[in-house]
Amino acid sequence: MLLVDAPLVARREVARGMFVLTLEASGVAETVRAGQFVNLGWSPGPLLRRPFSVYKADGERIEVILKAVGGGTSQMLQMKPGEMISCLGPLGRGFDLTSGPRTVALVSGGLGVAPMPLAARDARAAGMQVTWVHGARSADELCSEADGDEVILATDDGSKGFAGTAVNAVPDADLVLACGPNRMLAAVAMRWPDAQVAVETYMGCGTGVCLGCAVPLVRGGYDRACKEGPVYRAADIEWSMLPSHLPYAISA
Ligand SMILES: Cc1cc2nc3c(=O)[nH]c(=O)nc-3n(C[C@H](O)[C@H](O)[C@H](O)COP(=O)(O)OP(=O)(O)OC[C@H]3O[C@@H](n4cnc5c(N)ncnc54)[C@H](O)[C@@H]3O)c2cc1C
Ligand code: FES
Repeated sequence: MLLVDAPLVARREVARGMFVLTLEASGVAETVRAGQFVNLGWSPGPLLRRPFSVYKADGERIEVILKAVGGGTSQMLQMKPGEMISCLGPLGRGFDLTSGPRTVALVSGGLGVAPMPLAARDARAAGMQVTWVHGARSADELCSEADGDEVILATDDGSKGFAGTAVNAVPDADLVLACGPNRMLAAVAMRWPDAQVAVETYMGCGTGVCLGCAVPLVRGGYDRACKEGPVYRAADIEWSMLPSHLPYAISA
C-alpha cells in the first residue's frame, strides 16, 4: 500500500453522466490487481477519503470511473487536469483468478463496470475466455467501454440489447465475477453461490482500523470490506442485512 500524489491527467465521458478520470499514480498502477480499490482525498475536499475501484491501469497511470452522487464525487468531476489527488492504495483483496477456470462471465450493473476492465485483463492473462455482460437502466446509461471476447448488453427498458437484467443474460461459464447493486449481487448469489462479488459499503479509513465498512456474514459476525474484501464469495454474505439503495450501484 502506497500514498502518492496523483495529478489528474484526463477525463472522458463513457455513459450519460459517467466519467473516467485518469491519474498519474506511479507505484499503485504497476501493482494493482482486479477488484482492488484506491482511497482518494484532495484539498479542499471532504474530511474522509472516498473509495473507488481501479477501473484500468496502464504504465504509471490508473483510471477510476464515477458519477456525481454527492459532494465528493461532484468536486472530483469539477477538477481540472494538473490538479492533485492524494491516492492511497492499492487496497483490499481483489478477485481470485488463479484457480484455473477456462471461461469467465463478468457481470456488471451500472457503475459496477468499475472493476471489470482489470478483471478482463487479468482473466485473459490467466488464459480464460471472457464474456462481459453489462446492464443498465437504459441505452444511454450503458458504459461504452465494455469489452471482452464476447460482450452482452442488457437494459431494463429494452432500449438496447437484452431486455431485462444483466443477471438474466449471463451464459454458462466456469466462473462468475460480479459488481453492481446489492440487489443484483443477491440475485447472483442465489444462482451462482461460488461467484466472486465486489461489494460496496460505507467506508472510513479504508485500511482496516475504523470498522466502518462492516459486511454481515452468513456464518455470523462481520468482515471488514476494506481488508478481507471488497471481493467475497457470493453465498458468504448475509444480503438481507445490506442496504440495497447505495448509489455506486445504480442499476442492475
Ligand atoms: C470498495 C469501494 C469501491 C467503490 N468504487 C466506486 C467506483 O468505482 N465508482 C464510484 O462511483 N463509486 C465507487 N464507490 C462508492 C463511492 O465511494 C461513493 O459513491 C462516494 O464515496 C460518495 O462520495 P460523495 O462525497 O460524492 O457522496 P456523499 O455526499 O458522501 O454521499 C452521497 C450519497 O452517497 C452515499 N455514500 C457515501 N459514501 C459512500 C460509500 N463509501 N459507499 C456507498 N455509498 C456512499 C451516501 O449515503 C449518500 O446517499 C466505491 C465504494 C467502495 C466501498
Ligand atoms: S473502512 Fe475503516 S475498517 Fe474498513
